[in-house]
Amino acid sequence: MAVRASCFLRQRQVLFLFLFGGLCLAGSEFGRYSVTEEAERGSFVANLAKDLGLGVDALAAKKTRVISDDNKQHLLLDFHTGKLLTNEKLDREKLCGSTEPCMLFFQILMDNPFHIYRAELRIVDINDHSPTFQNKEMILKIPEITAVGTAFRLERALDSDERSNGIQNYTISTNSFFHIKIHDNDEGLIYPELVLDKPLDWEEEQEFSLILTAFDGGSPPRSGTATVHIMVLDINDNAPRFSQELYQTQVPENSPVGLPVVKVSAEDADSGVNAEVAYSFFDASEDIQETFQINHFSGEIVLKALLDYELVKSYKLNIQAVDGGGLSARCTVLVQVLDINDNPPQLIMSSLVNEVVENSPETTLAVFRINDRDSGENGKTICYIQENLPFLIRPSVGNFYILTTEGALDRESRAEYNITITATDLGTPRLTTEHTVTVQVSDVNDNAPAFTQTSYTLFVQENNSPALHIGTISATDSDSGSNAHITYSLLPTEEPQLALASLISINANNGQLFALRALDYESLQAFEFHVVATDQGSPALSSQALVNIIVLDANDNAPFVLYPLQNASAPCTELLPRAAEPGYLVTKVVAVDHDSGQNAWLSFQLLKATEPGLFTVWAHNGEVRTSRLLSERDAPKHRLLLLVKDNGDPPCSASVTLHVLLVDGFSQPYLPLPEVARNPVQDEDMLTLYLVIALASVSSLFLLSVLLFVGVRLCRRARAASLGVCSVPEGHFPGHLVDVNGMGTLSQSYQYEVCLMGGSSDTNDFKFLKPIYPDVHAHGSHSNDDEKPTF
Ligand SMILES: *[C@@H]1O[C@H](CO)[C@@H](O)[C@H](O)[C@H]1NC(C)=O
Ligand SMILES: *[C@@H]1O[C@H](CO)[C@@H](O)[C@H](O)[C@H]1NC(C)=O
Ligand SMILES: *[C@@H]1O[C@H](CO)[C@@H](O)[C@H](O)[C@H]1NC(C)=O
Repeated sequence: MAVRASCFLRQRQVLFLFLFGGLCLAGSEFGRYSVTEEAERGSFVANLAKDLGLGVDALAAKKTRVISDDNKQHLLLDFHTGKLLTNEKLDREKLCGSTEPCMLFFQILMDNPFHIYRAELRIVDINDHSPTFQNKEMILKIPEITAVGTAFRLERALDSDERSNGIQNYTISTNSFFHIKIHDNDEGLIYPELVLDKPLDWEEEQEFSLILTAFDGGSPPRSGTATVHIMVLDINDNAPRFSQELYQTQVPENSPVGLPVVKVSAEDADSGVNAEVAYSFFDASEDIQETFQINHFSGEIVLKALLDYELVKSYKLNIQAVDGGGLSARCTVLVQVLDINDNPPQLIMSSLVNEVVENSPETTLAVFRINDRDSGENGKTICYIQENLPFLIRPSVGNFYILTTEGALDRESRAEYNITITATDLGTPRLTTEHTVTVQVSDVNDNAPAFTQTSYTLFVQENNSPALHIGTISATDSDSGSNAHITYSLLPTEEPQLALASLISINANNGQLFALRALDYESLQAFEFHVVATDQGSPALSSQALVNIIVLDANDNAPFVLYPLQNASAPCTELLPRAAEPGYLVTKVVAVDHDSGQNAWLSFQLLKATEPGLFTVWAHNGEVRTSRLLSERDAPKHRLLLLVKDNGDPPCSASVTLHVLLVDGFSQPYLPLPEVARNPVQDEDMLTLYLVIALASVSSLFLLSVLLFVGVRLCRRARAASLGVCSVPEGHFPGHLVDVNGMGTLSQSYQYEVCLMGGSSDTNDFKFLKPIYPDVHAHGSHSNDDEKPTF
């Protein structure tokens, strides 16, 4: 509008110059007037009549007319008074805009004669306008890092009043950040600048409003306000900041993949993208990258792989947080891996001997080491072997152990040991490793061969075939190998007459005994010898066993008749009195059998007789007796055939022929001792003499003994009574004496008295047993034992 107005003015000026050039001759300069704007209609401008020097009437007569250049009736000529008045409220701002001074040109036309007067009216400004801001709300965006002193041009306020009433000053509402600086521009207009006094901080105040007031130059001045909204623009002036510089956490090893370890978080005081923080590892080793994973947005760190305390005990993660503007911060996460008892103890054998010689003293078998990769209690180990084994585990330096024998071992009782070494750690749960060591006990020839029996009794039937296997003896050797390889041999016998080597042989390898030749029971019933079993150890050990060979009888001898002799040239004849009673012993057949036992058990049998019913033979003793009275009719000569038979299987027998001659008047008993019968009187005398001498000596001995015994008894009783130890009444026995009369197989009755220690009847100390012989049984042989009759 102002521009248009000025354009309009320029046109008007051009027009005015044109008019001036064209009409100059016809007109003349007249007057300069002024009137304040906004004066009421009819306000006085000029007394035209007076100024023109004409009377009021003349003005009318000359048809005076006032014409404004813009052809508008701003002014009115009052013909009655000749005054020029305003025809309307003149608004300077409307008429002239910003052109100053504001001139309203007009012509005064008069006829009769035609005359043009040119006049101008200055419209004087009054302060009728307040400053106004076109934009009541100004928004000013200022980055927070803007330097102090930076000026921000603000919109001017407008005031359509002329310059002196125009805008003179600006103020800003009280604040700590800005002040207003007024500037002139080339056209002389002032405009406000907002100057920053103090750094802005988005984080402190993001937005605030100030009131900008514009004052004009009126009196009183008018003012207009506008609001300036200051928006502090965040710039990425804040690096992210971690809530902790150091995060510490502990994670048990073997925790599952995906387990959250820790969550780091960084705050960024900025806004928007500048506050968007991305987390990442910084300077991370490959190991860390393989083990951990960080969520770029949340900052959560999770496990990507299993942790192994034994490999890495702790991790130091450098975490970087970068905001959208590229500022970064770092923190450290210390991840301590906690040990879990996940490693069983390990047994590392350093040296091992699998064989130990028996009977050797304490021997080192194995040296080993126990390792547990865990730590703390989880890594402490104990080590032991089964109980009841003759081995020991001794701890050595470090975690070395020595397995030794406890002492000498005996291969014969146990030749192999499986030693289970158990290593256990102290973690929870406990982990255990077992290692089995097999130890062989090697043999030493420490055991002599042992016969299955200390003595052997072997039976051989006589008349055996030569080289007969008569039995086997055997010995065992609890050693092994050649130490247990036994050879058998015969020990030469001490009896010189026994040619053992010709009788017996032994198989050296298996102990089989052979009879080398036929044995004869009748010449050799039994013999004994020693067999030696020798092992092949070095030195060799041997042992002996006694072998009894008993030759068993075979019925190889027929009974041999001793009486009556059968090979005599003149056969023996028995005499039998005819007056003999039945059962009269005629004779007794005496026979022997060189065999033994059943084979020598003879029986007699009457095979044949001249008079069959007259004689009987007693089967068992061979007595031949008459079985009835003899009569005259019986033949004087009898021949008896007897059979002597042994009880062998098969039996052997011999026959005996007896001749019996019956004689008359021979009634005297048969005396088998013909020598005694020859000189009976002489013998009887001698016998009587011997008998008398013997009787006399026995009687005197007996008398002497009785006297001696009585004397000793009396003596002893007197001594016992004086000591008071025990007194035994004569003739009968008190209850505490044990009467063993009639017990057992003793032919005599013995009575014992139990003598107790004097004065201590309750202790019942058994002192001794003393036999008491009744006087009737006193005997010389016993009297010697009287002094100390203990049994
Ligand atoms: C504008 O106003 C301020 C405060 O009222 C004053 O200090 C300053 O001098 C004034 N400036 C002018 C050019 O009048
Ligand atoms: C020792 O172990 C071996 C192998 O397991 C076995 O054959 C042997 O019989 C065992 N010995 C003993 C004495 O237990
Ligand atoms: C009869 O035999 C026995 C024993 O064999 C012998 O001692 C004796 O001399 C023999 N008599 C005769 C006459 O042959």
